[in-house]
Amino acid sequence: MPRLESPAAPTQQSSAEPCVIVIFGASGDLTHRKLIPSLYNLERQGVLPKGTLVLGVSRTEMTDDQFREKLAPSVEKFSANFETSRWRQFSQRIHYYPADAAQVDAYPGLNQRIHDLAQGAGALKSGGSPNILFYLSVSPDLYEPIVESIGAAGMVTEGRRWCSLDPASSAWQRIIVEKPFGVDLASAVSLNRALGRVFEEESIFRIDHYLGKELVQNISVLRFANSIFEPLWNRNHVDHIQVTAAETVGVGSRAANYYDSGAGGALRDMVQSHLLQVLAVVAMEPPGVFDAAGIMREKLRLFSAAVIAQGTDVPRLAAFGRYGPGEGSSDPAYASEKGVDPSRRTETFAAIRVEFDNWRWAGVPFFLRSGKKMAAKLTEVVITFKPAPTNMFRKLGVASAADRGSLNRLVINIAPSEGISLRVDGKVPGGGLKIASAKLDLDYAKAFGGEHIEAYGPLILDAIKGDLSLYKHRDEVEASWRICEPFITSEAIRASIETYKPGSWGPPAADLLLAREGREWHNPRHDEVR
Ligand code: BG6
Repeated sequence: MPRLESPAAPTQQSSAEPCVIVIFGASGDLTHRKLIPSLYNLERQGVLPKGTLVLGVSRTEMTDDQFREKLAPSVEKFSANFETSRWRQFSQRIHYYPADAAQVDAYPGLNQRIHDLAQGAGALKSGGSPNILFYLSVSPDLYEPIVESIGAAGMVTEGRRWCSLDPASSAWQRIIVEKPFGVDLASAVSLNRALGRVFEEESIFRIDHYLGKELVQNISVLRFANSIFEPLWNRNHVDHIQVTAAETVGVGSRAANYYDSGAGGALRDMVQSHLLQVLAVVAMEPPGVFDAAGIMREKLRLFSAAVIAQGTDVPRLAAFGRYGPGEGSSDPAYASEKGVDPSRRTETFAAIRVEFDNWRWAGVPFFLRSGKKMAAKLTEVVITFKPAPTNMFRKLGVASAADRGSLNRLVINIAPSEGISLRVDGKVPGGGLKIASAKLDLDYAKAFGGEHIEAYGPLILDAIKGDLSLYKHRDEVEASWRICEPFITSEAIRASIETYKPGSWGPPAADLLLAREGREWHNPRHDEVR
């Protein structure tokens, strides 16, 4: 039966128009390692709209050429298929404006420069304004002053679009906001308000690079393009779900400026942002229509069903750790890293247990964990299914799958490899009945080919197109702070923070979190991490 198409989500632009991408924080690490290499790759793939320009803004005095020269080595290092001549050509579209973005009087000049560049490229819309994509890649304390100054300088003209007879002729202005998006619920609400005073919600792109990862996007395809998973995807069949993001690196030089400043720690840095987003894609209901509005609505419905930890339950539902010194190496413990105040007890490992009180998931625990200096670089979702209703083989002396520790398990590998595996039991060939587990394995690169794409490129392109599907709504951000806040503020959890060995799977308290209910973490052996 043909289906009625629902009206498009508000303001979703389907085509990519050229714009000026204004990057605040142009001399920063993110610009060098991710943003410019990703833009270069978009250009190389021929998908960056012709006439798109980049304008870097930071305090260092530099000319356009000096900026391009500074960028070149990192673009070569961090982008796939670097070609010198191609970069040279692309770099002519990159410009630089030295300014202190915290100073409101820097903005009229910046505005003029953006206009001049757009005019020179023939990219002014007929209303006389350019399309602008602002990118906030600066210290979070600058977010609100920058947004206010953009507003005060009259750089956002988009509101006029709604009165125009010909909307296509009017320019848009959008903003991408990097994490951390606040350090707690109150600061996130304040930032959302500040953004909302200058930009419409549909022009605010709260970026989470995990949502741009191929295998995170693929979770929706796995669930909703196949008919076999969804009937099992609920409390009747799922025992529990784990989401892990483990890194082998430590905090390095980021301690003083970020990680130990009160804005970082594993819970804020990874769980509140990336892991809850991955969880949302795993656990949300199928959207009525697969578009930005539909996806955001379902993620929010899920978050609003979260059981918020309270009172004496809080310390039982979380485990914090920080890495100790390297064994047989001079690697410092986190507490001795440069710029760390050990009395803050910032966690480099966090694990929490969350439940959702809704029809689909009531009673199913979700365990999220993330840590630095762990046993492997690994991001994965593990869905463990309930045991078969009865052990048909017990008379033949075979223990049940639960007793053998071999429940069916679907593992979605997000990084470093991209794939899906399903653990099933089978009969070991030969006489008698011996049952063992084996994996059905799908390696994405092998099955589908294609080059590995850094998540930032496609996300920036989506923002140019006005597509918010892989971005976060203000209510989602606030809801995820609401889930995390009891753990962040719990003095009991912080007081009981444990030291774990670098190269391990975290502190003993994390194992206890699952062991208390007869479960255990999926800790793949080194040779199992693809
Ligand atoms: C960032 C965090 O958002 O994600 C970092 O601030 C972390 O601390 C990084 O290292 C991990 O990203 P990925 O893509 O390597 O898993």
